[in-house]
Amino acid sequence: MSKRIAVLAGDGIGPEIVSEAIKVLSYLNKDMQLGLTFDHALIGGAAYDAFGTPLPQQTLNLCKHADAVLLGAVGGPKWEPLAHAVRPERGLLGVRSELGLFSNLRPAVLYPQLVDASTLKPEVVSGLDLMIVRELTGGIYFGQPRGVSKLENGEKVGVNTKIYSESEIRRIAHSAFKIARQRRKKLCSVDKANVLECTELWRQIVTEVGKDYPDVQLSHMYVDNAAMQLVRAPKQFDVIVTTNMFGDILSDIAAMLTGSIGMLPSASLDANNKGMYEPIHGSAPDIAGQGVANPLATILSTAMMLRYTFQNEEAANRIEQAVNAALDSNVRTADIYSEGMTKVGTSEMGAAVLNALKAESAP
Ligand code: IPM
Ligand code: MG
Repeated sequence: MSKRIAVLAGDGIGPEIVSEAIKVLSYLNKDMQLGLTFDHALIGGAAYDAFGTPLPQQTLNLCKHADAVLLGAVGGPKWEPLAHAVRPERGLLGVRSELGLFSNLRPAVLYPQLVDASTLKPEVVSGLDLMIVRELTGGIYFGQPRGVSKLENGEKVGVNTKIYSESEIRRIAHSAFKIARQRRKKLCSVDKANVLECTELWRQIVTEVGKDYPDVQLSHMYVDNAAMQLVRAPKQFDVIVTTNMFGDILSDIAAMLTGSIGMLPSASLDANNKGMYEPIHGSAPDIAGQGVANPLATILSTAMMLRYTFQNEEAANRIEQAVNAALDSNVRTADIYSEGMTKVGTSEMGAAVLNALKAESAP
C-alpha cells in the first residue's frame, strides 16, 4: 500500500506545529520503516496570497492522490475582509467536502498530568475519555440556499440552510455506533429535535440505525442540555454523535475539559478510512510566529493517522506514549502551564516528544 501524506501547514501557528509533528512522524517512519512519504502544498490564507484562492487545484489534486492529509490550521485577521467564497476557511471546507470526509472524530482525553490545567474541578474531569463524532460534510455548513441578499424594501437578509438527507444521517450514525462498539458501548445522539424538523429526522434515523447495534446503549439529548452536561458531568458520556455545527461547538467545550484546546487531535474520514488529520484548534494568530504554540494536538493527530488510515496501532501507541512521557517530564507550553512545571516553547515540546520516542526505542 502506498503511504503518501499531503502536508498542508496553512496559516498562523499552522507551520510551527506541523513542523514539530513532521519531525516526530519522520523519526518513527525511519525507526519502524513505515514507508511514509510527504508532499507539501498551500492552503487557506497562504494559498490565497500566492494563487488568489484558498484551495488551489494542485493542492486539491495532491490531497486526492494522497492516502492521508495532515493539516495545521487556516485563517487569520488578515483575510477576514475577503469575500466568503475566498476566505481561508473555505479551503478547509473544500477539502472536507471534495474528499467526502463525512466522519469527524474528536476524542477528548484528559491526561492525568494536566488535571490542574483544566478550569474545572479535578473530580469533574479526572479520567475523562470521550469521543465526539461530528458529521462534517453536510448540515448548515453546506446547505443551500445560503448567502446575503436584499429584499425589495432594501433591507438585507442573511440565509443559511440546515439540511440532512436520510443517507447522510445513516452513514454518520453507523460510524458512531461502530466506534461506540469498540469503546464503552454508550452512544448519545445530540440534536434539537424539539425545535428543528431537520434534527427530528436525525433522531428518527439514528434510532432506526440503532436497531442494528443492540449491544450499544443509545440515548438522545438536546444540544443545549448537552452543552450544560459537558461542563456539569462530562464523564457520563462515552461517544457523542451530532451534526456539523453542533459538533463544532461541543468539541470546543470538550477541549477545555482536557485543560487546553491545544491538546485535541482529530480525524476526518471517508467511507474507506482515507483521512485528513488536524488539531481542532484554529490558527491562533495572536501567538503565531512566536514559537509558543502547543504542538501536541497536531502530534496526536499523526497518531490518529497511523491508527485509522494506516491501521498501525503499534505506531500510534508509540506516539501517544511519547506524548505521555513528555508530559511526565513536566515540560509545558503556556496553554497547559501550571505552577512548578517548566514552561517551554513549541520546538522544545516537539523535542521532548521526540526524545521520549527515541528513549522508548532504545534497548
Ligand atoms: C473546526 C474549525 C472549522 C470549523 C473552521 C476553521 C472552518 O472551527 O474544525 O472546528 O468550523 O469546522
Ligand atoms: Mg471549531
